[in-house]
Amino acid sequence: MCGIVGYIGEKEKKKIILKGLKELEYRGYDSAGMAILKGNDITHFKAVGKLKNLEEKTKNFTSEGFGLAIGHTRWATHGKPNEINAHPHLGEYSYVIHNGIIENHQELKNELQEKGFSFLSQTDSEVIVHLFEMFIKEGFGAFEAFEKTVKKLQGAYAILLISKVDKEKIFFAKNLVPLIVGKSSENEIFFSSSDAPLIGYAQDVVYLHDKTYGYAQKGEINIYENSVLQKPKFKKLSISKLSAQKEGFRFFMEKEIYEQSAVASETLMGRVQKNRVILDDIDDSFFNEINEIKICACGTSYHAALASSYLFERVSKIKCSVEIASEFRYKEPLLKNDTLFIVISQSGETADTLQALKMAKKAGLKTLAVCNVDNSSIVRISDEILLTRAGIEKGVASTKAFTTQFIVLWMLALKLGELKGNLGQNIVESEIETLLKVPAVLKVDEKIHEKIRRLSKRYLHGHGFFFIGRDLFFPLALEGALKLKEISYLHAEGYPAGEMKHGPIALADSELFTVALMPKTMLYDKVKSNVEELSARDATILALSPLEFDIADDFIKTKGYDHPMLEFFEMSVIVQLLALEISVRLGNDVDMPRNLAKSVTVE
Ligand code: AGP
Repeated sequence: MCGIVGYIGEKEKKKIILKGLKELEYRGYDSAGMAILKGNDITHFKAVGKLKNLEEKTKNFTSEGFGLAIGHTRWATHGKPNEINAHPHLGEYSYVIHNGIIENHQELKNELQEKGFSFLSQTDSEVIVHLFEMFIKEGFGAFEAFEKTVKKLQGAYAILLISKVDKEKIFFAKNLVPLIVGKSSENEIFFSSSDAPLIGYAQDVVYLHDKTYGYAQKGEINIYENSVLQKPKFKKLSISKLSAQKEGFRFFMEKEIYEQSAVASETLMGRVQKNRVILDDIDDSFFNEINEIKICACGTSYHAALASSYLFERVSKIKCSVEIASEFRYKEPLLKNDTLFIVISQSGETADTLQALKMAKKAGLKTLAVCNVDNSSIVRISDEILLTRAGIEKGVASTKAFTTQFIVLWMLALKLGELKGNLGQNIVESEIETLLKVPAVLKVDEKIHEKIRRLSKRYLHGHGFFFIGRDLFFPLALEGALKLKEISYLHAEGYPAGEMKHGPIALADSELFTVALMPKTMLYDKVKSNVEELSARDATILALSPLEFDIADDFIKTKGYDHPMLEFFEMSVIVQLLALEISVRLGNDVDMPRNLAKSVTVE
């Protein structure tokens, strides 16, 4: 996720902006920039990579005395991470920084280009500054021009804009993406994407609501909603920086589980319309002559791959195989060039996955990466990319990356099904309708979380866990087991529920904990009988299901969504929280579990 900071006041502005951006580094970024307006001078700097590159570029610049300043760290969603695409984006006399995704940016860009505006970057954000200057050219005042600009935008945005047409004001707008405005006892104004950069500067802050916009000037904040001036509701700012970065959660992993609903909206943003999926700028022709899909990944990404293979065969009607990258590398695989080779990686740097990708490219296959980091090695060498847009994932145990990978793969399955003529329009529309419910499904139910926190005390010992499920829920069982293993250090295995009687049931006794995924929309009766077999041998059962199941020792009642994919996402949050709460009770380092790294860049 991008980071935004802004300042109005007398202090030296470069330092304040750099310091603020540093506090936002935890959000992840691949480029950064700032713009400073003082008197009639407007200066800007941009740099790719880490903030130290921006510091280097601005080392001979200072800006004392009253002025305005805005700063931005970019996590690429549209357009490569390079200097041109870094924010701020320039007009003739105005600068804008933006976090989020402007869904209708292409249509606005076409409109502006027809009116003679030229664009430098590949980003969606640049339309904002040209739109603003278009309204100025039409004779509107600065605030009216900004208000008209905001009203034309669709999608998610946190915007700061400064312009020579009004040297006293920073214009702002907020929808679906956080933006905080604060003031100090010296009448300075501060903006930020989160609390951390404001701590030690602003005392009173306003957490802007969706669809609000306005302007700030020395000691004054004017917030509008539907053209009506609002009375700002100030709050006292929290004082702990680290908890600010975790935004009040105990661990980054917990924060990232709670973020899944919001980031899922970004993953979907601009990619689905009522009756079709738009896969960014991947031309449909890329999928011509593709008759098979092979997916390669590791760990959690492998589980997302395995789950998506059910969709590619059932929905797209395309043969799909899934490989663990470290195995694939040495098995002398038979590769055909009508196979689309997909790699899935949160980091984009996993050595085995990267090498597997190179093997596929060498064999002449078309390659596509589903990845969360734009300027990563895997992204750089893949033919096409679909970014998961999950924002930085700091917890070593992957959560939001997994769910956003699966959302992207679901969209890809729908796209391929449609392109291959294997999916009727009505099915596509109903699947998209379901897809758009996922962000709400991913919203953590606090009551469920509290129940998991309470029952986790019963699962701190024993000689192991089985996570069992069928069909899509088998890869989810694997993922639930991996989550538990990697942060609780308890032994857990994911198993197809139907496999129990082929050996594993020999382990069944009261000290064997079975987490049974029992969705009502997928083979419920089959799973139920498998669980009954385990229960009859005294295994301790924790059942996740919308249907009452009285032989379970513990039972988490799910909401009973009428689509397996929605039941999948709901249960994925539950198994993530279960692993988290057991690990917390065991006193483990949830975010940095022993022996693990966030990205396995070696074999
Ligand atoms: C997931 O919780 C683990 N941290 C690990 O299995 C991870 O998924 C695996 O190393 C693959 O990483 P990648 O997605 O960055 O390629």
